[in-house]
Amino acid sequence: MHKILVTGASGQIGTELVARLRQIYNIDHVIATDIKADGLNESSGIYEILDVTDGQAMHDIANKYQVDTIIHLAALLSATAEAKPLLAWHLNMGGLLNALEVSKSLNCRLFTPSSIAAFGPTTPKNNTPQDTMQRPTSMYGVSKVSGELLCDYYYHKFGVDTRGLRFPGLISYTAPPGGGTTDYAVEMFYEAIAKGSYTSYIKQGTFMDMMYMPDAIEAIIKLMEADASSLKHRNAFNISAMSIDPEMIATAIRKHIPDFKLGYYSDPVRQAIADSWPDSIDSSASKEEWGFQAAYDLDKMTDDMLSHLASRLVV
Ligand code: SER
Repeated sequence: MHKILVTGASGQIGTELVARLRQIYNIDHVIATDIKADGLNESSGIYEILDVTDGQAMHDIANKYQVDTIIHLAALLSATAEAKPLLAWHLNMGGLLNALEVSKSLNCRLFTPSSIAAFGPTTPKNNTPQDTMQRPTSMYGVSKVSGELLCDYYYHKFGVDTRGLRFPGLISYTAPPGGGTTDYAVEMFYEAIAKGSYTSYIKQGTFMDMMYMPDAIEAIIKLMEADASSLKHRNAFNISAMSIDPEMIATAIRKHIPDFKLGYYSDPVRQAIADSWPDSIDSSASKEEWGFQAAYDLDKMTDDMLSHLASRLVV
């Protein structure tokens, strides 16, 4: 990667990825784009307003800065996609198709995230293999598995260097996620500091894969820098750092905040999405093909999250 265009740069991943890329690749070599200026104009560096459903605008910005890599993050997450399925299809698939077309015409490499949502109820639930049944039942999952296929198609048909990761729930303290099913895990840390308690819409005993944001950021960079000859898979690699349920996070939080209270309420839509996803996925292809290694387990992530949030939220 030399000159990089990032879409969805003000989102949960984009905010931290852009900052890290600017440290590594030179501040003028990272072009941050999003549909609104908010967030983009808070950091130094080049930014442009971009609606990813406008393919010509994406092409013009990529061409203007002569980028060689596109990191396409703009998308709706699972719960919002379920509430607005047509918008989710239009944005998630339309944006990706534009990013693929721009990559094809300007000879760019392309990264786009897939998700554990690309699996469904007929997928093996534990230690979910890299190559397995993918029949998701959520619109977000349908867009993710379709995106994986489309990226493979552009690689095989047109030689576009497409790469992707099936991200689990990502936990971070900088920018909040929005409209996801795994957001409960992030909210629990914020409310542990702010209120000492949290009421979860995901039931006790519902296991999902999760990962701390610094590991996700390093994984994107490491995959994009990996020698193409070592990659047997491309779109997209299973990747996870931990398989946890709400009680496990609460137990980790209580090591710092002993009186932390966890309660529950029912959210049938997000619970059904969570129940259709794997409990734990097998990341061994990522380890073998490009050396993925997570640095944060649940306890280490909890220490870091709580100390950052405490200094930000408590005055
Ligand atoms: N974190 C995402 C969501 O919950 C899954 O990729 O929608």
